[in-house]
Amino acid sequence: MMKKREAIVSYLEYQGIAELPGADRKLVEEAVVAASGAYAPYSNFMVGAAILLDDGTIVRGANVENAAFPSGSCAEKTALSYTVANYRNNKSVAIAIAALTEGKLTAEPVPPCGNCRQMLIEEEQRLGKPIKVILAGQSGIIVLENCQLLMPLSFTRSNLVK
Ligand code: THU
Repeated sequence: MMKKREAIVSYLEYQGIAELPGADRKLVEEAVVAASGAYAPYSNFMVGAAILLDDGTIVRGANVENAAFPSGSCAEKTALSYTVANYRNNKSVAIAIAALTEGKLTAEPVPPCGNCRQMLIEEEQRLGKPIKVILAGQSGIIVLENCQLLMPLSFTRSNLVK
């Protein structure tokens, strides 16, 4: 019998950085620093991601573009790949994402693209613990308790089982 199902996503919305708890604010500040390291000569959209590990280490990543446009990498992917490659024995506990246009934090929070959502969800599943997501903009900050909330019905390793 056909059923209608719902996937409901709940998240927190803060009015601005000042309203965030201290640890989250620090991670957003790190994401802004990360964004300043972006190589984005084509879009001029500089994105930064800062990943907090369980021992307090913060790993930064930025988008790196390429003249062959699809060869570029998003900030989240850069930061996550570096984390998985270099800190395999640590657990990521949170990621903050921020973007700069003309040197200023965007008004709206920037959501990760679908590819990056896939990558974040895979890492969260590998760790077996939630990775909090903080999307920062001047006029609003979105906080999701885990990465899975970013993409219901995502493709996961369980789909590869024959
Ligand atoms: N970009 C990111 O790095 N992360 C996102 O969440 C969205 C988009 C980058 C890719 C490209 O270099 C530029 O932003 C414009 O799409």
